[in-house]
Amino acid sequence: MDILIVGSGGREYSIALALKKDKEVGTVYMAPGNGATQRIAVNIDIKDFDELADFVQNNSIDLTIVGPEAPLVEGIVDVFNERKLPIFGASKKASRLEGSKVYMKNFLKKYNIPTASYIQTDDLKEATDFIESLTEPIVIKADGLCGGKGVIIAQTKLEATEAARDMLSGDSFGDAGKFIIVEEFLDGYELSVFAVCDGENYKILPAAQDHKRLLDGDNGPNTGGMGAYAPTPLINDELYKKVEKQVVIPTLEGMQKEGSPYSGVLFIGLMIINDEPIVLEYNVRFGDPECEVLMPLLETPASQLFYKAATKDLQNLDLEFYDKYAVAVVVASQKYPYSGSTPSEIIVDENVHDELDGTHIVYAGVSKEDEKLYATGGRVLLCVGLGESIKEARDKAYLLCGQVHFAGKQFRLDIAYQALNK
Ligand code: AMP
Ligand code: GLY
Repeated sequence: MDILIVGSGGREYSIALALKKDKEVGTVYMAPGNGATQRIAVNIDIKDFDELADFVQNNSIDLTIVGPEAPLVEGIVDVFNERKLPIFGASKKASRLEGSKVYMKNFLKKYNIPTASYIQTDDLKEATDFIESLTEPIVIKADGLCGGKGVIIAQTKLEATEAARDMLSGDSFGDAGKFIIVEEFLDGYELSVFAVCDGENYKILPAAQDHKRLLDGDNGPNTGGMGAYAPTPLINDELYKKVEKQVVIPTLEGMQKEGSPYSGVLFIGLMIINDEPIVLEYNVRFGDPECEVLMPLLETPASQLFYKAATKDLQNLDLEFYDKYAVAVVVASQKYPYSGSTPSEIIVDENVHDELDGTHIVYAGVSKEDEKLYATGGRVLLCVGLGESIKEARDKAYLLCGQVHFAGKQFRLDIAYQALNK
């Protein structure tokens, strides 16, 4: 089976690695890929969805897997579906679960799925009145996609009002902030749960935990994610059952009723308060860096998982994961998340092999020149460790962090601390 992956980051690199281990998989193509994906795949530089579909048809590619949200929200799946080309991902309509926070919140309310209380508004007076009724801190969210920056946790009512004003005026996020959500702050711990869906059936993957803040101890600014581990002991069978019953099943049933059955991976961002799951958000794609710890744990051939989801055949999938743990530490550039990096060469110690199994490097924000790899992005690469325990996996990941070098590298030293302190 030949497969195309759409995307260029660590998430897509980790999917490609999982496919390379799968004996059923022939050539893996990536559009556009990055400077390191050329080692494991064929990079192609096509953006237009129709042209991509032509490429898939002309090269008899059996399956396309979409990594990031942008092409999903823009309707890549609809273009491929119309041409009967198997594709893993959510349709344009279904992608509104991530593309519009207003749509998501109203969907949650309509189908009685637990979430923070909120209002949606485009009116500053209405926003201010609701802000006054809440206790601090207060959460303000722009409706549209803002590259992960559209959520403000305001410590005071004044700060909340200012954030609402900036968004509504178009100053902060342009049109994406024309509508906003004002919502209560939830105080608990966060979990990422992923359900791979085929419109009707679903398979739950082991829960992962991300670390969104830049600095140790969950301090500093929010980022795309500085590291993840899975499976997390912060969830047990009882909580998994609650998540399925109270969130996953009503979401899939609700999306069917809305006329946009959900296919692809549903990423449920949860806040757990008193052992109850409360939905913070949905994403219509794998988390990054969560994907980088889930893919190496997958025992079932990766092509089967993605292909059966794309072809409405998940009920015939026996999904197995290794009885192991994975920890991924993001190694970012010096100025992340404020600005990009000055290109600097990546040097990996000689005794380190970038293996397909076990501990390995996942490349994300990198470019290649003259056979050398350069750090060019914000999140440059991830060091992934696998082990019989979280501690062993984490130790291996950190050992690898010490064996990879580029100017200005920074990473958190406490990935998985909540699990290790438990
Ligand atoms: P979102 O894009 O909605 O997931 O928000 C990004 C991050 O903001 C989440 O991962 C949480 O850490 C935080 N967040 C969002 N909504 C809330 C809330 N109501 N209460 C507390 N934290 C929140
Ligand atoms: N790791 C969080 C995200 O991908 O949104």
